[in-house]
Amino acid sequence: MIRLFTLCVILVQLIACEPESAAGTHDPDAWPALTSPVPINADREARIDELLANMSVEEKVGQLIQGEIKSVTPQDVRDYHLGSVLNGGGSFPDLNKQATPDDWLAMADAYYEASVDTSGGRAAIPIIWGTDSVHGVNNVYGATLFPHNIGLGATRNPALIRRIGEVTALETAVIGVPWTFAPTLAVVRDDRWGRTYEGYSEDPEIVRSYAGEMVRGLQGELGADSHLEDSKVLATAKHFLGDGGTTDGDDQGDNPTEDAELFRIHGQGYVTALGAGVRTIMASFNSSRGQKMHGNRFLLTDMLKGKMDFDGFVVGDWNGHAQIPGCSNGSCAAAINAGIDMIMVPQDWKAFFESTLEQVTSGEISTSRLDDAVRRILRVKMEAGLFEAGRPSSRTYAGRSELLGSAENRAVARQAVRESLVLLKNNGQVLPLDRNLDVLVAGNGADDIGRQSGGWTLTWQGTENTNDDFPGATSIYDGIREVVTSAGGTVTLSASGDWTDKPDVAIVVFGELPYAECFGDRRHLNYDPNDPESLTLLRQLKADGIPVVSVFLSGRPLWVNPHLNQSDAFVAAWLPGSEGAGVAEVLFRGDDGEIAHDFSGKLSFSWPASVEQNVLNVGSADYAPLFAYGYGLTYADQGEVADDLSTDIGDSTFVHQPIAAGDSCAE
Ligand code: BGC
Ligand code: BGC
Repeated sequence: MIRLFTLCVILVQLIACEPESAAGTHDPDAWPALTSPVPINADREARIDELLANMSVEEKVGQLIQGEIKSVTPQDVRDYHLGSVLNGGGSFPDLNKQATPDDWLAMADAYYEASVDTSGGRAAIPIIWGTDSVHGVNNVYGATLFPHNIGLGATRNPALIRRIGEVTALETAVIGVPWTFAPTLAVVRDDRWGRTYEGYSEDPEIVRSYAGEMVRGLQGELGADSHLEDSKVLATAKHFLGDGGTTDGDDQGDNPTEDAELFRIHGQGYVTALGAGVRTIMASFNSSRGQKMHGNRFLLTDMLKGKMDFDGFVVGDWNGHAQIPGCSNGSCAAAINAGIDMIMVPQDWKAFFESTLEQVTSGEISTSRLDDAVRRILRVKMEAGLFEAGRPSSRTYAGRSELLGSAENRAVARQAVRESLVLLKNNGQVLPLDRNLDVLVAGNGADDIGRQSGGWTLTWQGTENTNDDFPGATSIYDGIREVVTSAGGTVTLSASGDWTDKPDVAIVVFGELPYAECFGDRRHLNYDPNDPESLTLLRQLKADGIPVVSVFLSGRPLWVNPHLNQSDAFVAAWLPGSEGAGVAEVLFRGDDGEIAHDFSGKLSFSWPASVEQNVLNVGSADYAPLFAYGYGLTYADQGEVADDLSTDIGDSTFVHQPIAAGDSCAE
């Protein structure tokens, strides 16, 4: 499919057509005319004019470049005038997973000092550091980790989303980083996609109702004194556009929809994000009707910056420009000409600097395009107060390590965990549980904070973590032990489900191993082939006559009919993050024997009835899910789910092989 398409692109280039002709005709009318809510400040623009007038071409080109901290030294920042750095997933100062806020700040200070060094007459332009705080400041040891977005989608609670944004901003401010690459506004249409969990929903309406709130939480309310002050960070709406709609859920693949559909489904979150004043937007790896988004001038420049009046800056994704025909990691005038203002070029930034310089000199990139890109970057840096903020370590919340993973912040995450749980089955009203029972806690996810946190957790893939990597966090087992032992019950933890005295109930926590991006792409949604042991375990417990409560950890709805059949109750817990204790608070009654927290989560993704239902979205023709969008039982519901759901697995037997470490997702 993709190869065929590449061929088409080459053919189109050979016959010298506009790339748009491969992509079909664009429809400007499909896109809304918006007005930027961020007031243009004349003094600020004058200050930018003055800077631009005095900057050398080298200084301007440097502003457009974002390298990765492993490949950029402070001296590089000084020598090449680099405008930005990022730390990628699993990248920390000194390669130290346990880096402290002071370690992060020391590095941030060194980059900052280099960027404002005026020796030799250069302009002092503070560097901007971006990080993926996508479920809390998730690269930082000891941080509060929120449920991934798929779980937040189930809460249906935009006010909570905003609160999560505030906490995430605050904890990010502790390490002195003023910019996060979040929120992800993907509207996920095929759950085989490895990034499904980064999306709030398959339904554009939920994404639309959350996007603006998350931006407000991260940046503050436009016009308020607190807007972009020291406890806030800049947000990034990503990935523009159509990331959740690729054919077969292929990560970085092609989204084939026409403009009207592209906007109606995939564009909705951007409307409210822009309305809340989001200042950076990340271009997507995917193509739109065959054209890579990084080279899509119509969408990036004509629609986003033109018709939709976006006057912040567009940042590229990790070497995303290199996927444009004719480009490489180290050279890509086409991306800049299409409208990318800042290029994320983690390692090959030096080559990119040199080639861009040449392209500006030769006129391939016009001076006006260069100046426009620099202007946008300077504007956002000024709006964020970076020119006045001083060294990162001098900012109000910098180094306040007591705020990282504070009790108050964890309480917000715990609330999110409770509200994200979706009760799919509760036959015989086995839930809620009394606290004074003898409980067996089993399954591969029962006591595994890494597994319950998913990808983008300390490491990029979320793998190679142990419970010791999460000081202050709780596993799901920890929470169960706490409530049960405090009420005189007993708890046995055994991943494999062994017991000596027959328990009153078994809580089996199982689910997907962590993954990120293309590493999570799947051929089918049948859960079992990758974890046959869990079904065996459920069967065994059932055969022993023990009531079974399944708690399922996953980054997407998966076909689990066999597991549902073996479970009295079944909870979709998604990827709850560091506060596993929130699960027990819902499964068990309170101290007083009353229901303390009922289930309130509702599916924001449809749950498949058969292994063929890869594309299963509310509102589509022939919609026949097992559990529909919006489904979610409460303790008041008496309905029973059949115990003999079809277990026909068709040809979904493929066992997903992990991609070797060191591989990347680039095609
Ligand atoms: C991802 C982005 C992320 C970036 C930086 C890319 O591979 O697609 O979502 O922000 O890396 O880590
Ligand atoms: C980085 C990620 C990035 C990915 C892109 C990884 O090495 O850590 O942040 O998204 O590469 O392929």
